[in-house]
Amino acid sequence: MRNPYINILFSTVLLVYGEKDCCRNIGKSKAALLGAINTLQRTNRLLGETGSPISSIEVAFHARLKPYITLGSRQTVIFDQLITNIGQAYNKHTGHFTAPYDGIYFFACTFLRPYNATVLHLQMVKNISEISRGHAASGGGSQTGAMNAIVYLHKEDIVKVRHFPGFGPEIIHGDWSFFTGYRI
Ligand SMILES: *[C@@H]1O[C@H](CO)[C@@H](O)[C@H](O)[C@H]1NC(C)=O
Ligand SMILES: *[C@@H]1O[C@H](CO)[C@@H](O)[C@H](O)[C@H]1NC(C)=O
Repeated sequence: MRNPYINILFSTVLLVYGEKDCCRNIGKSKAALLGAINTLQRTNRLLGETGSPISSIEVAFHARLKPYITLGSRQTVIFDQLITNIGQAYNKHTGHFTAPYDGIYFFACTFLRPYNATVLHLQMVKNISEISRGHAASGGGSQTGAMNAIVYLHKEDIVKVRHFPGFGPEIIHGDWSFFTGYRI
């Protein structure tokens, strides 16, 4: 996109350096350069005010689990309250993050086991392959667990958090459990 201030800047520079005796014309050059700097500063301010700070290819989400859920084996944890969803790649109804572009992505999940449940095991998967696992210990009231991963995703690959395969019913604490991800 052409910016009118950039055009003015180029015209100013051409005016100064296009002259044959520019070297002798130091005062004029200095004034033109100061003008150019001023133009750049104005352009910078203008872009700061009107240009969107979010590029159309940026992807970032952050979601909270609201209810307490009793999870069965392999059940997807659906973090249902969106806090951030730039790029709309996370679906709060399915719990799936679907990569909109090939690239390197970071994911994190922090979770809490309620005081009145025994233990909690979770797994983060890329499609069906494990990319992280986490555990909130038993005893001592509520306990936290965490998972992190950096993975290369192809467009359409899915990343989600689920209950660990083969484990019986376990409870995840509402309000205190989050799922986060972004393209790096
Ligand atoms: C555990 O505590 C939570 C919050 O007080 C409550 O909603 C849930 O029903 C309790 N679950 C059990 C199995 O007691
Ligand atoms: C992952 O699942 C998506 C959606 O089903 C599919 O398009 C993609 O090819 C799968 N990726 C791999 C590596 O199996």
